[in-house]
Amino acid sequence: MLCFLLLVYYLSSSTCSELLRRHRRNWIIDSYSIEEEHKGPFPYELGKIDIDRDYVIYFNLNGHGVDKEPKGVLSINSTSGTIWVHKAVDYEARPQLELKFQARRADSTIDTRLGVEISILDINDNPPRFDKDQFDISVPEDQAQGYLGMTMVASDKDKSGTPNSTFHYEIKSVSPKPADSEFFIEKTGSITFKGCLDHEASKKISIVIEVKDHGEVVSLSSSATVVIHVQDSNDHLPTISGQTGPDKVKEETKGSSPLRLHVTDQDTRNSPAWRARFTIHGDEGGHFKIETDPVTNDGILTVVKPLDFEKGAQRELSISVENEIPYFFCKVKERTSSGPWTVESSKGDHASAAQPHTVNVTIEVEDVNDPPKFRESVKKTVVKENAPTGTWLGNVTAVDKDSSHTNTFVYKVGHDPADWVTVDPHTGNITTVKRPDRESPFVVNGVYTVILHAVDNGEPPLTGTCTLQIYVIDQNDNAPQPEVQHFDVCMSNMSTTANITASDLDGDPFGGPFTFELLGDVKGKWKLRPSYGYTAGLVKEPGLYAGQHKIDLKITDMQGEFGVYNLSVTVCDCSLSANCRTQRKTAAKADFGAIGIVFASLLALLFVMLMAIICSHKKEFTVLEMESAGNTLLKSNTEKPGTDCKVTA
Ligand SMILES: *[C@@H]1O[C@H](CO)[C@@H](O)[C@H](O)[C@H]1NC(C)=O
Ligand SMILES: *[C@@H]1O[C@H](CO)[C@@H](O)[C@H](O)[C@H]1NC(C)=O
Ligand SMILES: *[C@@H]1O[C@H](CO)[C@@H](O)[C@H](O)[C@H]1NC(C)=O
Ligand SMILES: *[C@@H]1O[C@H](CO)[C@@H](O)[C@H](O)[C@H]1NC(C)=O
Ligand SMILES: *[C@@H]1O[C@H](CO)[C@@H](O)[C@H](O)[C@H]1NC(C)=O
Ligand SMILES: *[C@@H]1O[C@H](CO)[C@@H](O)[C@H](O)[C@H]1NC(C)=O
Ligand SMILES: *[C@@H]1O[C@H](CO)[C@@H](O)[C@H](O)[C@H]1NC(C)=O
Ligand SMILES: *[C@@H]1O[C@H](CO)[C@@H](O)[C@H](O)[C@H]1NC(C)=O
Repeated sequence: MLCFLLLVYYLSSSTCSELLRRHRRNWIIDSYSIEEEHKGPFPYELGKIDIDRDYVIYFNLNGHGVDKEPKGVLSINSTSGTIWVHKAVDYEARPQLELKFQARRADSTIDTRLGVEISILDINDNPPRFDKDQFDISVPEDQAQGYLGMTMVASDKDKSGTPNSTFHYEIKSVSPKPADSEFFIEKTGSITFKGCLDHEASKKISIVIEVKDHGEVVSLSSSATVVIHVQDSNDHLPTISGQTGPDKVKEETKGSSPLRLHVTDQDTRNSPAWRARFTIHGDEGGHFKIETDPVTNDGILTVVKPLDFEKGAQRELSISVENEIPYFFCKVKERTSSGPWTVESSKGDHASAAQPHTVNVTIEVEDVNDPPKFRESVKKTVVKENAPTGTWLGNVTAVDKDSSHTNTFVYKVGHDPADWVTVDPHTGNITTVKRPDRESPFVVNGVYTVILHAVDNGEPPLTGTCTLQIYVIDQNDNAPQPEVQHFDVCMSNMSTTANITASDLDGDPFGGPFTFELLGDVKGKWKLRPSYGYTAGLVKEPGLYAGQHKIDLKITDMQGEFGVYNLSVTVCDCSLSANCRTQRKTAAKADFGAIGIVFASLLALLFVMLMAIICSHKKEFTVLEMESAGNTLLKSNTEKPGTDCKVTA
């Protein structure tokens, strides 16, 4: 067991023969080893170095084991060369000791210098160990059998590759011992189980795992605890344990909550396995919703779409409850010796008979007064313009869902801007009370709009509304008209034209384009170019004298409806002034001037006469009025003529 490996370095001599030997640098003299943790007694002899010299030499040793850690393990008898071991060494601290060996002559010169390595033999003094004493893992209750998600890892400090550092795992204890499952540890250290976990039976399972090496002389072991925390899954169905309500629901309202369902669930509070989720069945029309109260887990039924009493005084609903996560169950059927056990679970093929708890509820709907409702919210009807009063326009019908012998309604006219129609309060028969006029300002694009109401006798009365659109069929009841009836035409030896534009209140095809025609003897005076369209050109023939002219113009629409208009045309000499209008004014002034003189003299005469009368009667005040030829009113006030009387008197 001793084996002494000597690495030899020749450093001392410089002789020729020694130089030759220098090339053979290292060779093994002997090999020695120390067993670790030797029990003694100390010191014991490890071996003796013999160097064959015919002179005296002294031995010296230093390095690990002498003056370097671990100190004081080795010593050498400087005269005999015997190496002594003084105490135990640890393989795990230093698997070999490196030392330097010297042999000196009596004059202290170095004879031989060697490097020495002493290997330490391992013994099984270390058990395999885990890095922690306790490991915690969380496993859901519905974990399928097999790997648990935990692999144990241990290590042994003893010399690797030997039985002293080779180990295996073993489960020493499981507490509390579960009824429906068994735990295993594989060679690789992974922990597996068979059967079903049950949170309600044990929330925490402690498994003591031992790791043991295969030392031939002694076998060492250590252990650690794995604590499995079994997390609750949804292995309890919620049940509806009671209810508040149902209250009556008013029809045509939403937002009310007529019912509260209370549930119980044995799974962990506030977990997804506990929180309830409700489903409504048989809610035709989607009138209800149900939500879970986050605190109490109650189901609150709410009306989200108004209910109609007339469609049923009661609503039958069926409400079921489940959890947020699917229901789970696991039951051991057979414990087989190899392979996984036979279990029945909701995850397997037998996802069976776990029907959610369901209750039937009846919601009563309370009747409230509904407004009468027209069958048609917009009714269109057609009437001929100028149709006689009493013309039947059609009928409207409203229905009141509450209608009974006590609840009735009447038809009324709500808005009728030109007061054209009346409605029979009971039959809804609509007749006219005026002749419809398509040219009325209330007719927009040929449509006259009336609002009709149906008012019930509820408290308060409720009203339904219908819009009646009366399409008035146009009649050719309007003749075309010229826009202006006075024209100015410039005097000229050439033909001059004035434009006559006409319009017709009636719509197509009772309007333009129009035919224009001059009546009477106009030959050589006037003609029309063009005489068809919306605008005609009135052409003055050359040679017509200046002054006022009257022309009879006939304008006929497409359907032959016509109007005759007496046009007044002023012909004037535009070379004297810019246009006829200023000409006419000055002419009027001139007229007035001439007539004025006559009037003035008449006035003077009248005045003198009046003075005489007034003076004699002592009248104080006189107003005089007269009309001018140009339709101008002249006012003349004379105040207190008494003072002037003296002159004439
Ligand atoms: C060294 O060995 C010699 C001869 O074996 C012995 O006489 C001597 O006492 C030893 N010296 C020590 C210090 O043990
Ligand atoms: C293992 O340890 C024992 C002492 O416990 C020792 O006798 C043996 O030689 C060691 N085996 C190896 C291969 O190191
Ligand atoms: C609930 O109603 C359904 C159908 O109306 C019926 O089949 C079921 O038996 C009822 N459930 C209860 C608990 O009354
Ligand atoms: C008009 O009244 C009659 C008799 O009441 C009814 O048969 C008909 O359906 C009504 N017409 C409309 C358009 O409401
Ligand atoms: C509606 O009025 C018209 C004309 O007056 C009449 O002929 C008709 O019979 C009335 N219809 C109803 C349902 O009253
Ligand atoms: C129109 O009168 C002017 C003079 O006022 C004259 O020069 C011209 O020739 C006349 N034209 C015609 C067509 O008579
Ligand atoms: C009369 O109408 C015609 C055609 O629209 C136009 O060319 C002409 O200038 C108009 N004449 C007057 C005096 O407005
Ligand atoms: C138009 O007026 C003139 C002059 O006042 C008159 O002679 C003529 O008869 C009138 N024509 C019509 C159609 O009224």
